[in-house]
Amino acid sequence: MEKIAIIGTGFVGVVTAAGLADLGHTVIGVDIDEAKIDRLRSGHVPFSEPKLEPLVRKGLYSGRLSFTAELNHALIDTTYIIVAVPTPPDKDGASDLSFVHAAIDAISAHPQQEVVIIVKSTVPVGCFKTLQARLDANDKRASLVSCPEFLAEGQAVSDFFSPSRTVVGANQAGVAERVAELFEGLPGARLICSNAETAQLIKYESNKQLAMRVASINDTAARCEAFGADVHEVAKGMGMDPRIGEHFLRAGIGYGGSCFSKDLAALTYTARMAGLPTGLLDAVAEQNEQQLRRVVAKIREMITPGQKVAVFGLAFKPLTSDVRSSRAIAVVQALMGDYTVIATDPVAAGDEARILLPGVELTDNPWRAAKGAHCAAFLTAWDEYRQISLELLQLQMARPAIFDGPGIFDPNKVVKAGFRYSGIGRPSRSPLA
Ligand code: UGA
Repeated sequence: MEKIAIIGTGFVGVVTAAGLADLGHTVIGVDIDEAKIDRLRSGHVPFSEPKLEPLVRKGLYSGRLSFTAELNHALIDTTYIIVAVPTPPDKDGASDLSFVHAAIDAISAHPQQEVVIIVKSTVPVGCFKTLQARLDANDKRASLVSCPEFLAEGQAVSDFFSPSRTVVGANQAGVAERVAELFEGLPGARLICSNAETAQLIKYESNKQLAMRVASINDTAARCEAFGADVHEVAKGMGMDPRIGEHFLRAGIGYGGSCFSKDLAALTYTARMAGLPTGLLDAVAEQNEQQLRRVVAKIREMITPGQKVAVFGLAFKPLTSDVRSSRAIAVVQALMGDYTVIATDPVAAGDEARILLPGVELTDNPWRAAKGAHCAAFLTAWDEYRQISLELLQLQMARPAIFDGPGIFDPNKVVKAGFRYSGIGRPSRSPLA
């Protein structure tokens, strides 16, 4: 078992730290945010992720997991250093690598020799040349390894312990295999050891494929509406073909979250800089924007300006409090000037949403949101919403109308309960029709 330092205690850093400690390694997570470190030390995870807090506490009690704000302390006698800092997009869509560069420089300044730097942050293909140059400039002997993460929010702990694959890429012989040993003990994980550029591209191309599937089914949804087909049945019918498969064919309000848009933009930028065509990448991003416009138009069509819309769901998907690049937030932003919007979410109606939606009333109480509303717009597929009593909802609302973005309701039941129904990839219905 090894001693491992992880720089960056965001979503990826904390899941990886707690997971590796559970596999038996001694792991120290380091971050410049002292308040966050204090919370983690006392076993509190500063974001909502199922199963993570118990795993962190288990690690803390075992003594194998610790957190510090002192990078130099974390690097003492540590050969393996995982970099899990953010790589936010800049104005051109390129990844801003300043946090990665800062981490590399800090590692370079530390006297510990012969370190292996494992980059989990999503970094553009080819960027190891620049990172290596920074190490060389500081006479630092270090191996650079790409080990992309495939953790989906809301299921990250399960994804860590049952990974679909482990990808490790390095350009020096034998290093990828050494790093792969850190993940031994994960059952059934398929391992790919490659060069660094292959590993980096696997990450980007995977997110591109997934985003492309979502864009593709949303594109199909428009045709379903026009021709009276049901996109859920079309997706089911296509997905039964094993060459197509059933995953990521849920039509909805478009993909959101901090990964797909950012990674697609970064991949597009990298391709453009290399003089490569970007038409397919552009089309996926454009479809997602088009989907947002269609969703907003559909909701507008159900109400008149000044009326009240109750928005159900702000998180970019269920089981997370994350509202970064949430399409639900974008929908509310598009509506809030013309309508009275009140938004509810089981966990995401907090401070981050408040900053993005100034003047919009937020509540975690769905009945409060529904009171007096002329339209209930469901935007996140929370299980709680699937179970909602349509009878009680109707009693609260000024007028019974439902927009079903993620397709969580049976339109027949909704119409039977007296609501007007509008959704994605299904014909609109009203009780009188
Ligand atoms: C995604 C990938 O699934 C992870 O493998 C990857 O590690 C991660 O990005 C990352 O790069 O860090 P995540 O963004 O957490 O994970 O969420 P997804 O479950 O992929 O969903 C992304 C968006 O697509 C959500 O808005 C979701 O609602 C939407 N989606 C997903 C659909 O609209 N339809 C679908 O069928 C599936």
